Amino acid sequence: MSIPANPSTPFFKEPKPLSIRLWHWFTFLFFTASITTVIFGSTLFKTKNNISMVQEQVQSKGGSVTPDQARKVAHEFSDKLWMLHKYLGYALCFLLLWRIIAEISLSKEKKLLTRIRFAASFPVKGPEQKHNLFVQYGYIIFYFLFLLMALTGLVLAFEDITWLDPIHKLSKNIHSYVQYGLYSYAILHIIGVIRADIGSYGGIVSRMINGKSSV
Ligand code: HEM
Ligand code: HEM
Repeated sequence: MSIPANPSTPFFKEPKPLSIRLWHWFTFLFFTASITTVIFGSTLFKTKNNISMVQEQVQSKGGSVTPDQARKVAHEFSDKLWMLHKYLGYALCFLLLWRIIAEISLSKEKKLLTRIRFAASFPVKGPEQKHNLFVQYGYIIFYFLFLLMALTGLVLAFEDITWLDPIHKLSKNIHSYVQYGLYSYAILHIIGVIRADIGSYGGIVSRMINGKSSV
């Protein structure tokens, strides 16, 4: 494998292309919205937790419903929320596709793959190189987890397609476990960029906004 062009600026100080900046903040937005639906869906709107509430409300107005009827009503609200989660999921799938197309169309030195190859292409010496390698591997892990979430999410979303039935249960399990990997990544990533901005890589967050290199 040939060693790629040495990016001309020091680690984390290179200008950020518009396509990546827009992609990043849309991903942040939709990811946050998606997690919000998960939090509401597993707490306030959880069907089980609302059955007695529905029964009480109907009784307070002089009516009566069986637990089964109350479950149906409570389920309808949670269903609406998961529908929203599904639509946000489609947007996230589109964003993943956008990132793949951007990767293909970016100039060689701006490609993530180039950065990863560059970070891994020589014996890691100083702490700065080690840190750079760690961050680039972090991106590989993130994109892998994102791909898993998108694919398993699509299997869950297209539950009417019968040939997907054999992998429905597996997809559900993967989808519900991999979420924790993504949450962990997001937390570590945000702590990481804040530390970098305060420390030796001042302006790193602004670069993700204005795209300008600081060197
Ligand atoms: C940011 C990434 C995502 C997170 C954190 C996330 C999280 C979750 C969680 C926790 C569940 C409940 C799983 C369970 O039953 O235990 C779920 C269900 C689901 N997700 Fe996602 N998801 C994400 C992305 C996606 C994507 C990209 C799609 C694609 C369309 C999607 C579609 C679905 C569908 C259809 C369900 C089933 C909803 C139902 O039960 O009716 N998700 N998701
Ligand atoms: C307040 C929240 C956030 C801030 C301030 C932030 C900031 C940044 C910055 C400054 C970079 C560039 C780092 C570098 O030069 O290597 C970056 C890259 C990245 N961020 Fe964030 N981020 C945030 C939230 C998120 C979230 C929630 C996700 C996804 C769940 C995410 C995913 C990524 C990815 C994948 C990259 C690498 C982009 C690429 O070059 O392919 N970020 N972020």
